[in-house]
Amino acid sequence: MATTSPSPSTAATTTHPATADAPSFFSVPKRVPIPPRGVDYRNKIVLAPMVRSGELPMRLLSLHYGADLVWGPETVDRALIGCTTRTNPRTGMLEFTRVPSNSQSASSCTQESVIYRIDPVREAGKLIFQLGTADPDRAVAAARIVAPHVAGIDVNAGCPKPFSTSGGMGAALLKTPDTLVGILKALVADIVPTYQIGVSVKIRILETPAETEALVRRLVGTGITGLTVHCRTTPMRPRERAIRGQLGMIVRVCREAGVACVMNGDVESREDGLRLMGEFGADGAMIATSAEKNPSCFAAMGQQQRAPWEEVARRYLGYAVEVENKFSNSKFSLSQLIPGKAPAARAVHGAKGYGQLVEVLGMEGDKELVRRAEEVDRVLGIGRFLAPPEAKKKNKQNGVLEGDQNQAGKKRKREDGGDEDGKGGRKKPVTEVSVGVAEVEGISQGVTMDKAAVAV
Ligand SMILES: Cc1cc2nc3c(=O)[nH]c(=O)nc-3n(C[C@H](O)[C@H](O)[C@H](O)COP(=O)(O)O)c2cc1C
Repeated sequence: MATTSPSPSTAATTTHPATADAPSFFSVPKRVPIPPRGVDYRNKIVLAPMVRSGELPMRLLSLHYGADLVWGPETVDRALIGCTTRTNPRTGMLEFTRVPSNSQSASSCTQESVIYRIDPVREAGKLIFQLGTADPDRAVAAARIVAPHVAGIDVNAGCPKPFSTSGGMGAALLKTPDTLVGILKALVADIVPTYQIGVSVKIRILETPAETEALVRRLVGTGITGLTVHCRTTPMRPRERAIRGQLGMIVRVCREAGVACVMNGDVESREDGLRLMGEFGADGAMIATSAEKNPSCFAAMGQQQRAPWEEVARRYLGYAVEVENKFSNSKFSLSQLIPGKAPAARAVHGAKGYGQLVEVLGMEGDKELVRRAEEVDRVLGIGRFLAPPEAKKKNKQNGVLEGDQNQAGKKRKREDGGDEDGKGGRKKPVTEVSVGVAEVEGISQGVTMDKAAVAV
């Protein structure tokens, strides 16, 4: 995997070996070594972790437009533990799957859920896996499952929603620094030597610079290679402007310890990120909301310039079909990419399958896409392959599974009638990952992470 980092043997050196006693102008900056399969976050403009909006097609789209690295959506340790890793023979994608533990009986609903999906080629050396965890042992057990396939493991210590924090995860870890330090140390001790990738953490700022500094000093001493700071406090809402007053101090503390510091919060484009990095001395910049709306913000083309939404949405659909993305998630992401007032937004909302989306976006001329969309509709049991309600019932009774990579009828119903955005429709569907977490484990975090997506 590609890395721009210095070699491990020299990277930790704080002063040039031959000039250990020489004046400070000979000293080179301290750097925690980047393991050979890992990646240095320095000088990178990266896609933020986003539940719902950070699934594989959006990550591929971001990479296409120039994101240097992509974070996957937070995935809770319990959802990952027990997963099987397989390569989807139709797509070549790596899928982490498991049988839902709450499937009704041995004779029904034994189809596996896809918890996480990776493109082993285009994401090689670029994908950081973000873990939701509150326990060092579980964190390690979960990280081991994905570590051979990703360039880094990141711990979420910033999600403010009660569902996450009530499990001791996310922003709750900011209040239990001993636990957070324990998790990071356990991951560094196990994952770094075994899989040769780095471990990082994503935090929010605390109320006072002194509190933040005390926390950051502890975190950078754990052996992590990177720290991302979302420049909002836990109670702050996404619409409130990011606070940059503490950033200089955080950058300094990270730099002293040789840990890369990535800034996050209201970074709007590559240009904006580079400008802010220059202003505050941060090593990298992370973009969430702007990328969710138009990932061409990663392209080097001027702060306000973006590729037209039509181009972006079509490219997205191509990736979604290619990787057999969960249909409701694709509709959700398209609803973010397409301006609300465009007629296509409504049409996407009403679409029942990928074949229809191809028509909505005017891509019928692409015969290969049409063929593949039809195939994916068949595989997922959506669009014109949607079984009539009576057949669905029978299939369920007979233990026959129709439908998507996840469970059968009940979920498909949500995809058809629900509104991915939660702004209408019968019932708010959840993401593939969230569904996996919720339905597999019967725990609340999965569903709630999905709801949290709007607010974290
Ligand atoms: C839809 C959505 C989902 C998010 N999911 C996560 C997540 O899984 N993990 C995480 O650490 N932060 C998550 N966040 C927070 C972002 O990573 C980021 O910290 C925040 O949006 C601030 O960046 P911005 O100002 O560029 O939007 C999410 C944000 C959004 C908008």
